[in-house]
Amino acid sequence: MAKRLPEKILIVDDEPDIAQILKLHLEEFDYATNWAADGESALKQLQSNEHDLVLLDVRMPGISGVEVLQRLRVSDLDTPVIMMTAHGNESLVVECMKAGAADYVAKPFDIDDLMIRMKRALENQRTMKQKKILEQEKEDFIFMLSHDMKNPITAVIGSIDIMREGRLGVVNPDQVEYLESAIESCEEVVTMIDNLLDMQRFESGRMQSRISPVDPCALLEAAVRHFSAAAERENITLTLYTQARGPEIAVDSAILARVFANLIGNALKFVPDGGTITLSCDGIERSKLSKAEIQAATDSSSDFSGVTSFVRISVSDNGTGISSDDLANIFERYVQSDNASRRIRGGAGLGLAFCKKAVESFGGCIWAENNEVEGSQFTILLPGHIGNIT
Ligand SMILES: Nc1ncnc2c1ncn2[C@@H]1O[C@H](COP(=O)(O)OP(=O)(O)O)[C@@H](O)[C@H]1O
Ligand SMILES: [Mg+2]
Repeated sequence: MAKRLPEKILIVDDEPDIAQILKLHLEEFDYATNWAADGESALKQLQSNEHDLVLLDVRMPGISGVEVLQRLRVSDLDTPVIMMTAHGNESLVVECMKAGAADYVAKPFDIDDLMIRMKRALENQRTMKQKKILEQEKEDFIFMLSHDMKNPITAVIGSIDIMREGRLGVVNPDQVEYLESAIESCEEVVTMIDNLLDMQRFESGRMQSRISPVDPCALLEAAVRHFSAAAERENITLTLYTQARGPEIAVDSAILARVFANLIGNALKFVPDGGTITLSCDGIERSKLSKAEIQAATDSSSDFSGVTSFVRISVSDNGTGISSDDLANIFERYVQSDNASRRIRGGAGLGLAFCKKAVESFGGCIWAENNEVEGSQFTILLPGHIGNIT
């Protein structure tokens, strides 16, 4: 069996005697050690990233232990640090912990206590590293899976579409309807994959948006056109009101189009045959916002200070609505409300989480509420775009 290399500890102390005693104790417990007599040389030695832990004296000539710790934390190095302080200096201990120390020991220290603290810090570090590796593996897996799943589904959509258009022979209206329905089911899977991929991108900070001035009403009109056949088939009335045409918005139109597709797709899932879905898009001055709208804007993580005009988009339906318990957390990933026959409706609970991330990335907010009589309404507020986009 491969033998694990001894863990390497960097002792940073200007007093050679203390460093020597520590070295002997640590070697007794099978640790390897290096010694740095001041902060500068400690930082230099740490650059090699070969140390598993640092024992760092607080009081040293030249740069202090706290400063070494601070410099270490702004660099990429995450080597755990245990501070060695003089007795009775609690405020310094607080400062060290705030600066990111893993732990501290007071001098003169009890060696057994020090060993316990070192073991704990090293274990925490190993767990953190393992977690990071797992996160990375999960991310790689999602990207790989999404890519490998999306390609064949897109090919299936293309083939069915050729058939639907009658390019491979005459298809009767019934067949067209079935083929359209097959395409829509495939598109639903593609939406789910895209939601999953984009959530991952937003969370890892790797989402690249192409922001440009966009007419939100035109974008919503296109979304309504896309879903009109599906709505018609289920006898659902899909109506869009574009009242006072508002300002443009600064967004990535492809991402916002997917937000609309998720909201309309959801409404279609939860509206009964013969139901209605009503969309609206208008411009609104800040002073005209309702109390509920101001509250939603305040509750969101976006900063609306200085925004004077908004674009308001809403998607309202007369479907099942959402239980008031679920309204608060419906935008969290993997959350699905308990509206009846959820399983039949499928989904992964990622659509609304994606919508929230996307809208907030454009400096806007989104919320859900139930209509007075039946069904629910999703509303988006986006700041009106003024000036140039760099
Ligand atoms: N228009 C709506 N009417 C009723 N419930 C809705 C509506 N939109 C979303 N929901 C509820 O929110 C849940 C989460 O939606 P979403 O994040 O899009 O995930 P998914 O569509 O994959 O279930 C849905 O499962 C449903 O319970
Ligand atoms: Mg959905």
